[in-house]
Amino acid sequence: MKYQSIQSAMDKGSGKVAVRGWVFRERGSNKMKFIVLRDSSNIIQCILKRENFEEQWKEIDSLKIESSVQIEGTIHEDKRAPTGFEIQVSKINILQIAEDYPINKDLNEELLGDRRHLWLRSRKMTSIMKIRDTVMASIREHWRKKGFYEYHSPSFLGMQAEGGSTLFKVDYFGKPIYLTQTWQLHAEPGIFALEKIFTIQPSFRAEKSKTSRHLTEYWHAEMELAWENFEYLQDDAEQLIKHILKKVLEKHKPELEILERDLSKLKPSMKIKFPRMTYDEALDILDKKCKMKVKWGKDLRTIEEDKLSALYDTPIIITKYPKIVKAFYMKEDDKNPKVVLGFDMIGPEGYGELIGASQREESIDKLKENLKAQGEKPEDYEFYFDTRRYGSVPHGGFGMGVERVISWICGLDNIKDAIAFPRTMKRTNP
Ligand code: 4AD
Ligand code: MG
Repeated sequence: MKYQSIQSAMDKGSGKVAVRGWVFRERGSNKMKFIVLRDSSNIIQCILKRENFEEQWKEIDSLKIESSVQIEGTIHEDKRAPTGFEIQVSKINILQIAEDYPINKDLNEELLGDRRHLWLRSRKMTSIMKIRDTVMASIREHWRKKGFYEYHSPSFLGMQAEGGSTLFKVDYFGKPIYLTQTWQLHAEPGIFALEKIFTIQPSFRAEKSKTSRHLTEYWHAEMELAWENFEYLQDDAEQLIKHILKKVLEKHKPELEILERDLSKLKPSMKIKFPRMTYDEALDILDKKCKMKVKWGKDLRTIEEDKLSALYDTPIIITKYPKIVKAFYMKEDDKNPKVVLGFDMIGPEGYGELIGASQREESIDKLKENLKAQGEKPEDYEFYFDTRRYGSVPHGGFGMGVERVISWICGLDNIKDAIAFPRTMKRTNP
């Protein structure tokens, strides 16, 4: 018989089926063995009666969690079974009887981290990884639909873009270079060829803080485009988030249920326009509604972002931050040179910054000035200035932390679970 997924066997609902997978739970008596079988699609209860398996009984009786098996049998509905169906097994092929599985409910974070390669099989991680797959696909879908090309930048770089404090230095044949924090400086040259481009690729940040929002290696969805203005970037960022949400909600109700995600917390973000406010307005709201005073010119800290976002049911967009707290490439606002045409999108429910964006500075003199003010050597950026020397055009882009978005959609306590093998300050294995 041809094997099918557990889910498709349940969709069929009756008759003969053949499925294969791993023992998720097992219990038995002298006469019967109950197995809950797991594959990538779902779980199902299977019953083996001793009278049908006299010769194999010893082996069947010793089946432990995560043993791998192939079975044939008859499926029927059974309301008492964990997923509402049950298979009466007529044939079993045992591929391997697993050793005692070293994962159980009592393991702490540290041990679960050590055994991450096994923990991936949990229903929780399986659900998150399925949602992650849809998030990736929907990001590509969103930009492709608008005529963007997928374009990639190198991971080894000779200069920084997002501040020296989070740079990873690498020994490159005896010469120090860095792991990329963003594709941006190598994306801007690309728009002069392709005009609209995007990527999803890893970025690296030497984040010394142990927080629930930071990875040292994360997947960065970034876009860059020519000709458009600051409003376009905000609109596109909002449409992107709405598209991802729509796709995940369409496809992953069962997974979100396994994760016990409260969907009423996600739905407003699909319908309501995300509030947009300037940094100045944000300070005003923080002062009036949250009794928090922030001195003009200071960056918003996590605690302030959290208080502010708690006032809304959707992500919020904060624009026009003081120039001194933002990256050297952000364009000065013509109307007020103290602020830049950049924005952060802050997620709801305390999920923090989902997106960082800006219109790009076109003046080489200003770029040089900004770099010097940050202690950088403008000579290292000559290739970048060429983008302003040969056919400079208004342009901009943004970057979205893929794991931040997954964390929010799945309602995770920690960003680590948004990726199969998280890299943090404390962990680089397995
Ligand atoms: O705000 P950031 O630093 O912006 C940039 O890198 C721009 N060059 C992007 C661009 O315009 N092309 O980073 C963008 C996003 C943040 O909003 C956040 O979601 C995510 O990247 N991010 C992290 N995610 C996980 N772990 C970390 N350590 C992160 N640092 C930033
Ligand atoms: Mg940022």
